Formats: sequence, structure tokens, C-alpha cells
Amino acid sequence: MATIEVVNVCEYEALAKEKLPKMAFDYYSSGAEDQWTLQQNRNAFQNIRFRPRILVDVSNVDISTTVLGLKISMPIMVAPAAMQKMAHPEGELATARAAAAAGTVMTLSSLATSSIEEVAATGPGIHFFQLYVFKDRNIVAQLVHRAECAGFKAIAVTADTPRLGRREADIKNRFVLPPHLTLKNFEGLDLGKMEKTNDSGLASYISSQIDRSLSWKDIRWLQTITKLPILVKGVLTAEDAKLCVEVGAAGVIVSNHGARQLDFVPATISALEEVVTAIQGRIPVFMDGGVRRGTDVLKALALGAAGIFVGRPVVYGLATDGEAGVRNVLQLLRDEFELAMSLAGCTKLSEISRSHIQIGNEKSKLSISRL
Ligand code: FNR
Repeated sequence: MATIEVVNVCEYEALAKEKLPKMAFDYYSSGAEDQWTLQQNRNAFQNIRFRPRILVDVSNVDISTTVLGLKISMPIMVAPAAMQKMAHPEGELATARAAAAAGTVMTLSSLATSSIEEVAATGPGIHFFQLYVFKDRNIVAQLVHRAECAGFKAIAVTADTPRLGRREADIKNRFVLPPHLTLKNFEGLDLGKMEKTNDSGLASYISSQIDRSLSWKDIRWLQTITKLPILVKGVLTAEDAKLCVEVGAAGVIVSNHGARQLDFVPATISALEEVVTAIQGRIPVFMDGGVRRGTDVLKALALGAAGIFVGRPVVYGLATDGEAGVRNVLQLLRDEFELAMSLAGCTKLSEISRSHIQIGNEKSKLSISRL
């Protein structure tokens, strides 16, 4: 596959569709129910326009930043996506290597087809662990302990999935993990297999294993079992953003799980500002959902995000061309973002501000004051 022909990350979706069995592609691409939120996650970016500044010296543009005190080369990170060996035989290992080469964070899903230890063994790189809280808290404590021992740098606890959203293609396909693959983190615990059911096999697995009673007190409990910072993934409201600060979260991820959980929640780019305002700079706010362009990244940062995560483009790049595909996805986003910053007149991330964008019918403050 000549990655050179691919000029933007959106093109990887069609290439992945050609390569993957229907069951796998449908699993990766689906949203919940009517997929209204799935469309919104993309469309809402179109409602934001730039107010670029001109005649700024942009001969040197620095897009590097820090996340939880760790230096990364760009504010673009890899979101957790389950079961990546369905996309490519090297799965999460290829993704981890590509993220490390790009100098950014790779988040490993609890439901990965590669283990925590295997990902750590891919070499240096910043790894976060996405945590699904199982009913059996011994399993949770073990997982968190393993991530800590393997040098992972943060736990991103997914808070929007007490049950799995209704993804209709998975139900129709009777989705199940192919028999040659396992949920590697649970192999030794006899929970590595997903049974074929009359439904989505993943929905049944989640329903039997994941703790629906998960609540705010558990975020405090997690802090007693690990020294790692805890990010809460799935925040969409000011109310919950404030609770995250109260319970001691190290940061929040504004996310609607790639529109795979509750349909008719807003696009994450639309929910971001509410969360940023509520948090008042006390902890960093990250976001994911529908980020496909460097301009999307710039919009999210202008609204106060400290960084963004990408989900599907990484999986599609992986399916198309393995590690090289993921590298190219990250490179394309990096190049587009750096270009967008230059054209908006920003030389470093701290210069990106709310005044660089306009949303909907919003007028710029200057033009309002002159009316
Ligand atoms: C996900 N996502 C996800 N989130 C999570 O917390 N744990 C997981 O195991 C998974 N698995 C997963 C699989 C696939 C195929 C997708 C597409 C998504 C959600 C993911 O972390 C992220 O929130 C979204 O993917 C971001 O939206 P985009 O970039 O895919 O639009």
C-alpha cells in the first residue's frame, strides 16, 4: 500500500473498508442507534470559523506541549480503541510503536487484543491505560497494578459505559471477536474469550462483566489503589466536570465515546466549552470525537482543550497499512495542525485563544462593541 497517495486521514476509512471483513469494519465505524451524534461529532466542527491574525512571524512554530507533566511533540494523542488485532495482525503493538515514533501518547484499551506488558515491551513511549471497571474489583486492582508496574503513566477510567450503547450493525452481525484472538489482558483470568450470542457478543460481555454500579466514590477508591493520575473519560456537562475536580481527578476527557453510547448527546466540540468553563483551569481538559483535521485540533484548543485524542482514524490507518498507516495518520494530523496554526498566526500553543474562533452566529467582541 502506497501511503503516499493518502492526502488526509479521512481517506483511510474507505481504504480500511476495502481491506476489512464486514464484521470488523462495522464494529469500528458504528455509532449508536440513529447515529445522530456520530454525524454531529463531525458536522459541529463546521459551525466554527477562524478569526486568523495576519503578519505574525511564523517562521518558527512550536506545537509541542505537556500532558500531566509529560512532554509530548504535539497535542494530538491516540484514544483507546478495543480489539485492534482485528484490524491488523500487529494490532495495538503497531499503534504503540507509531505513537512512540510520533512522540505522543498511546492509550491502551482494557479490551485490547495485546496485553499491558506486550505494549510496554514495544519500547519507550508514553502509555496510558483505559480502564473499564469490572464487577470483580480484584480484577480492577490487578489491572491497575499491572499498568503501574509496566510503566504506564495514567489511568483513563471510562465513565460513560455502565452498559454498552446499542450499535445496530454489531447486533445484526452477531459481532464476536474472531476465534484466533483474545482479550489479552484477561487471558489468565479466564475472561479472554467473547461468547457468540444472539446479540452483539461485546454487549453481552460488557453486560456480564462491567459494573453498572460504578459511581463517584469509585473514582476516590481508584486513587487509593494507585499513584497514577486518574483521567475521567466521558464528561459532557458542567455538573460532572465540577464533580471530577471534587473527587480528585487529574483531568477530564470530554468524550461521547465516538458516538457509540447514548445517541443524541451533543458533539464533543459543542460540549467542550461548558466543561472548560466549569473546570476554571483547575485540571486539564482533553477531548475526543470526530477530530479528523488539523483545523479541528486548532478549534478544540481555541475552546480550551489541552489536547485531543483520535480514535477511528488510527484504527483505519492500522487496517490499511499497519504501523506505517498509523504513523501517516499522526503525521498528516501533525502537519495540518502546524499549518493551521501558522495560517492563524499562532507560534505556540499558549497563543491559541478563544478570540481565534467564532461559533455559529457569534460576532467578534470588537464588532459588537462598534455596533
Ligand atoms: C472506541 N472507544 C473506546 N473507548 C474506551 O474508553 N474504551 C474502549 O475500549 C473503546 N473502544 C473503542 C473501539 C472503537 C472501534 C472505537 C471507534 C472507539 C472510544 C474512543 O476511545 C474515543 O472516545 C472515540 O473513538 C473518539 O472518537 P473518534 O475519534 O473515533 O471520532
